[in-house]
Parts: sequence; structure tokens; C-alpha cells
Amino acid sequence: MAKKIGVAILGLGVVGGGTYQTIVDHHDFYLKTQRIDLTVEMVLDKSEERLTQLGIPKECWANGIEEVLANPNVDIVVETIGGVGAAKQFVTAALRDGKTVVTSNKELICKYSHELEEIAKRMGCGLYYEASCVGGVPIIRTLLDGVQANKIQTMMGIVNGTTNYILTKMSNEGADYAETLKEAQRLGYAEFDPTNDVEGFDSMYKLSILSSMAFHTKVPYANIFREGISKIEARDIAYGKAQGYTLKLLAIGKQTEKGIEVRVHPTFIHNSHPLASVNDSFNAVYMTGDAVDDIMLYGRGAGALPTASAVVSDIIHAATHSEVKYSTFKNEATAEKGTKFVTDFSSAYYFRLTVEDKLGTLAKLCNMFAKCNVSIVEIVQKPGNETEKAEGKIPLVIITHATAESSMERVVEKIKESDFAAVQTVIRVEA
Ligand code: HSE
Repeated sequence: MAKKIGVAILGLGVVGGGTYQTIVDHHDFYLKTQRIDLTVEMVLDKSEERLTQLGIPKECWANGIEEVLANPNVDIVVETIGGVGAAKQFVTAALRDGKTVVTSNKELICKYSHELEEIAKRMGCGLYYEASCVGGVPIIRTLLDGVQANKIQTMMGIVNGTTNYILTKMSNEGADYAETLKEAQRLGYAEFDPTNDVEGFDSMYKLSILSSMAFHTKVPYANIFREGISKIEARDIAYGKAQGYTLKLLAIGKQTEKGIEVRVHPTFIHNSHPLASVNDSFNAVYMTGDAVDDIMLYGRGAGALPTASAVVSDIIHAATHSEVKYSTFKNEATAEKGTKFVTDFSSAYYFRLTVEDKLGTLAKLCNMFAKCNVSIVEIVQKPGNETEKAEGKIPLVIITHATAESSMERVVEKIKESDFAAVQTVIRVEA
């Protein structure tokens, strides 16, 4: 006999709409494969037009969260509203009411999982958020139930599709950032206000969730170093490419002897790295565990059906497992006292400088790097553009060995003080 499971969906935008469609289209399949009779009992959205477009019967339309929670046929509440306003209020109310919640909301989980999990534990209900990170890629379940035998040592992810689309296009077409962003907005890959994606906030929220799970300790987003892609120039991508590197916005988490290192920034990776071939709006997470060694999960990090895949898989998991698995760490707003974070992390660096095209410039420059204890791997002189030529200057690309961030900063300071060179860009390089 199939178990009857009723769902309420709050927010029928792209992900909520995809979730509704997936549940309706797969009803008989889940009945057969999972032995659950899964139905959408209620929906809550301000736009009646949207509910009509989706073909949702009027008897399922709720007038407010109270009506959803009062419905005895609703077992699981799905939150696909986003943000931390109404979404937080509704999720809190649902959990307080003893309903299991499935959410796709990374900001909510990143900022408030401690509060929400505490209520869920108290009420004995589930809080599931596979869709909050990397859309359809089952990274949360993998961390919880697939690689838990391991101590995870590193995690490197392309966890934002918008920025990966922009960087791939800039790389393939030599196009500049502003025009590529406009094109991405026109095609619906980037939002009207792209800040959240292009400045790395979206990746930072995801890294906070994923690294907390991977390293079994709370990693608040405030501890994550963040730099976006808005200052990236097409010429840097081209210069890196000429040296065998691909530029990606990476979310990096490392468990080192000195502590946890967590950072989001544009990064050159060698073309031979598996992440270098993750293109367009695709996402991937590359991890190393002490037993499993290297693994990579790849797929679509956004979109109606890929994200619905994660939401509905969570619903099915909740419907078919009576025991709930909560965080393996003390889930508080801030990090535990014993957790150390590395801020002066080590990385290799790509520098683009403009220097005077004069005898002795390279000698002086190399001397500066040496004084700051930064070892150089390669120096390439590039042809200058018209302005640089007119000023008697040339661009110089310098790639260093791994060094401390503070040493890189010292080099930047020294060059700033000089009268023959200027730093145009510094980009981190990951081996
Ligand atoms: N805005 C995100 C991205 C998708 O571009 O990948 C949702 O997290």
C-alpha cells in the first residue's frame, strides 16, 4: 500500500514551478518506484497569473501560510520563495507546526540554519536543503551520505552558473565583462541586478553551507574571503590562457594543519584540471577525501527542472526515511571557539603590471619580488596597446610560486611605491 504524502509549495517562481511540474508529471513513477502517492495539496504565491499559467487547480490556492499549516493533508512544506523575509517567517512557522521543510534557499540556510535546525530538532521534523547548493547536483546528499567515511581535505567548486557563463564567454570570444554581462542578462542567465552572483555572494553562501558540512564545523559566511569577477578584463583571461590557464570563479575550502581556509575569488587553474572544462552555466564540485581521493560532481546548478530534481529528491527522502539526520556539528550563528580560520592563506599569483619599457626594469622588478620573498615562475612581456605604447610602457605578466597572501600584498605595496611600474591586476592561481 502506497504512503500518501501531501506537499505545499510556497513560491511558484522558476524553482517552485519546476517542482510542481515534476511532482505532477512523475506521480505514477513515484507510486511505482518509491511507493508514495505524492501530491501537491496547496500552493502559495502572490501571482494568480502564475498559478493559472502553471495550470494549478484553484482549490489548491492558499490565501496565507495559516491556511497551508491548517491543512491536515500537508505533510511537507516546500519553500522556493528565496531571500530571508517571508521565506524565513514561513519556514519558521512550518517547523514550529511540526511540518518537515524542504527549501532551495541558500541565503536562508547559510544565515539561519542554526535557528531553524533547533526548531526542527525540538519538533522532531526534517529540514532538507539539497537544492540550496549547486541546483541539481546532489552535493549535500553526497556529503551527508556518500563520503561521510572520509575526512574531506579540500573542496573546490564552480558553484555559480551566471559567473561561469560570463567567464566562459569572455574566454571563448575575447569579449569584455560589461558587454558579456549585458548579453547574459538579455538571455536570462544574469539577473537585472547581478551583484549577488557577480560579486561572489551567492558562491559565498553556498561555500558556507558546503564547507560546514565537509569539515563538520560551522563555517559562518563572515569568515569567507570574497572577491567577485566584475573587475576581470578580457586581456587577463587571454594572457592566462596563453600560459595554459583557465579563469574560473572558485569557491575553495581547505582543511589545513593551521585551520580552515575558505575563499571565493576568480582563480586561474591549469587547463589540465578537471574544473577547467566545466563551461557555460554548468557547475561542479571537486573534492579530495582521505580515503576516496579525488571525486568530482558535475551538472546544472540552476534552472527549473534541475533544481526541482533536488527539491523533489529531498521530498522523497523525507517521505521514505523516518529518522532525520541533522548537522554533525554544533550549529550556531558563529563558529565554535576551537575552530581556527586561516586568513593569510597561501596561493600562487598572476600579476599584470605596466612597466617602463627601459633597460634595467626587469632587474629592479625581480629584485622587489625577491626582497618580499616571492619566487617567480615565469615572466612574459606582452605587446602594449596604443595608450601604453604612447606612454612608453609595456604590459608584463608575472606568475609566482605559492606564497603567503601577505607576501603578495607586500609586493603590491612595493610596486606602488616605485616610479617605474604599476600593478593592474592580481589574480590567484590554484595548482
Ligand atoms: N544564481 C545562481 C547561479 C543559481 O547563477 O548559479 C541559484 O543559486
